[in-house]
Amino acid sequence: MSYANSRIPTSAQQGVHEQLAARVRTHLAHPFKKPIADYNRAACAAALAGWDGRAPLILDAGCGVGHSTIELARACPEHWVIGVDQSEDRLQRRKPYPAALLPTNMVFVRADLVDFWRLLADAGLRLARHYILYPNPWPKIGHLGRRWPAHPVFPYIPQLGGVLECRSNWPVYVAEFAAALELVLGRTVAWGEFLAPQALTPFERKYRDSGQTLYRLVVDLDG
Ligand SMILES: C[S@@+](CC[C@H](N)C(=O)[O-])C[C@H]1O[C@@H](n2cnc3c(N)ncnc32)[C@H](O)[C@@H]1O
Repeated sequence: MSYANSRIPTSAQQGVHEQLAARVRTHLAHPFKKPIADYNRAACAAALAGWDGRAPLILDAGCGVGHSTIELARACPEHWVIGVDQSEDRLQRRKPYPAALLPTNMVFVRADLVDFWRLLADAGLRLARHYILYPNPWPKIGHLGRRWPAHPVFPYIPQLGGVLECRSNWPVYVAEFAAALELVLGRTVAWGEFLAPQALTPFERKYRDSGQTLYRLVVDLDG
């Protein structure tokens, strides 16, 4: 697929999955007990090793090649910014700056968010800001359980607090994220279209330059 010729996810599913609410209720009633892998414990320790314990935390969950992590760290020098991705290959790809020019208030770690989110929550940590930017959409109807809102780990995400932002080029994904959050929080979560004059991530840039509409939800979990 060439650049700026990206396609919007196609799916037979046109709205919030009819089984989403039942899945979320089940996950709320039965906390996720899957054992946490040692490499994710080590990654969490590495993510916090350079933190002074006081700086507000920003998590870039599924950061890909990490451009957004770098931008957030530059924009928020008082924060400690953690970029997490499961792909070592993506994390290792060439960054837009030489290593010597990278901000010092950030760290990249390879980890599975399924464990990483639970480790942060179990440690009682609270985020100031939490970004989930262009998560894999898994648009097939039968792939509901692979989308974060329907995943057993989902209830841990709002536990982390802060201002949570999710962006996607597939409106159904953001609608499901908002619907799942509403079930957890018991309040309305707004979402909608937005413009990205300055793309924060490579996926955002690619989708924007392909003329696609972008969607996001932003919710203050502490508000
Ligand atoms: C579509 S890419 C978006 C990357 C980046 N946020 C962007 O917008 O350019 C989704 C990213 O989520 C990562 N990812 C998917 N599942 C994950 C998981 N369970 N744990 C950590 N990262 C995951 C993938 O490796 C991939 O880099």
